[in-house]
Amino acid sequence: MEKISILGFLLVILCLITRDLACKGETLEGNCLRADREALLDLKNGLKDSSNNRLSSWIGGNCCQWEGIGCENNTGVVISIDLHNPYYLEEAYENWSSMNLSGEIRPSLIELKYLRSLDLSGNSFEHIPIPKFFGSLKNLQYLNLSNCGFKGAIPPTLGNLSNLQFLDLSSIESQLFVKNLEWMTNLVSLRHLKLNYVNLSMVGSHWMEHQWQLFPIKVPNMASKH
Ligand SMILES: *[C@@H]1O[C@H](CO)[C@@H](O)[C@H](O)[C@H]1NC(C)=O
Ligand SMILES: *[C@@H]1O[C@H](CO)[C@@H](O)[C@H](O)[C@H]1NC(C)=O
Ligand SMILES: *[C@@H]1O[C@H](CO)[C@@H](O)[C@H](O)[C@H]1NC(C)=O
Ligand SMILES: *[C@@H]1O[C@H](CO)[C@@H](O)[C@H](O)[C@H]1NC(C)=O
Ligand SMILES: *[C@@H]1O[C@H](CO)[C@@H](O)[C@H](O)[C@H]1NC(C)=O
Ligand SMILES: *[C@@H]1O[C@H](CO)[C@@H](O)[C@H](O)[C@H]1NC(C)=O
Repeated sequence: MEKISILGFLLVILCLITRDLACKGETLEGNCLRADREALLDLKNGLKDSSNNRLSSWIGGNCCQWEGIGCENNTGVVISIDLHNPYYLEEAYENWSSMNLSGEIRPSLIELKYLRSLDLSGNSFEHIPIPKFFGSLKNLQYLNLSNCGFKGAIPPTLGNLSNLQFLDLSSIESQLFVKNLEWMTNLVSLRHLKLNYVNLSMVGSHWMEHQWQLFPIKVPNMASKH
C-alpha cells in the first residue's frame, strides 16, 4: 500500500513538472491544437467530398492551414469553419457540384470548444435533419446553414446558443419547419435572423402576440431577401 501511494505521489509530481512541456509538445502541431485536429479529421471522415476537391488540404499536422479552417493566432484553437459552397446550384451546376459536400456531420464537431463561426451554406446534406448537437457549440456567434439541404424540424437545442449573433437557416425550398419559436427567446445575442422558406405553419397564430416583444431581434430582418 505504502509503496503504491509513494509511487502515485511521485507520478503526480512528475506529471505536474512535465505538464507544461507535454502540453506544448503533444497538443500543438505547428500552431494547431492536437485535439482540434483530431476532431476535424473525424469530421472529415463523415463528410462526402464528391470531387475530393474541398478537403484535400485536410492532411498533415497544422490544421490552421487547412482550407476553410481559421484559428486563433496565439493559442492555435480552431475558431472558424467555412466550407460554404460559393456556387449556386441553378447557375453553375458543374462548378457547384465540384464543391458539393454531403454525407454526415459527426458529433466530433462539438470537440471544437472555441468554435465561433460555422458556415456550411450551399452544400447538400440531403435528407438529414440539422444535428441537435449544434446546440452544444456554445461559443458560436455565426451559424449559416442556408441552402444546405437539411430536412425536418429545426432542433430547439439551437436555443442554447446564447452567443449567437447571426443565424441563417433560409433556403429556396421548404424542407425545414419549426413546431414553436419559444427556444428563440433564449438567443439573447441575436442580431440577424434569416428564415426564408422555413415552414412556420405549426407555430400557430399566437407567436406574434405573446412572444414578439420578448425577441431581442429586429423585425425587418425576418423578411430580408437574398
Ligand atoms: C452531392 O454529392 C453527393 C455525393 O457526394 C451526392 O449524393 C448528391 O446527390 C450530390 N448532390 C447533388 C444535388 O448533386
Ligand atoms: C493572425 O495572423 C495572420 C497571419 O499572420 C494575420 O493576417 C491576422 O491578422 C492575425 N489575426 C489576428 C486576430 O491577430
Ligand atoms: C466554373 O468553372 C470554370 C472552370 O474552372 C470557370 O471557367 C467558370 O468561370 C466557372 N463558372 C462560374 C459561373 O464561376
Ligand atoms: C449565408 O450564406 C449565404 C450563401 O453563402 C449568403 O448569401 C448569406 O448572406 C449568408 N448569411 C449571413 C447571415 O451571413
Ligand atoms: C439545450 O437545450 C435543450 C432544450 O431545448 C436541453 O434539453 C439541453 O439540455 C440543452 N443543452 C445542450 C448542451 O444541448
Ligand atoms: C408546412 O407545414 C404544414 C404542416 O405540416 C403542411 O401542411 C404544409 O404543406 C407545409 N407547407 C409547405 C410549403 O411545405
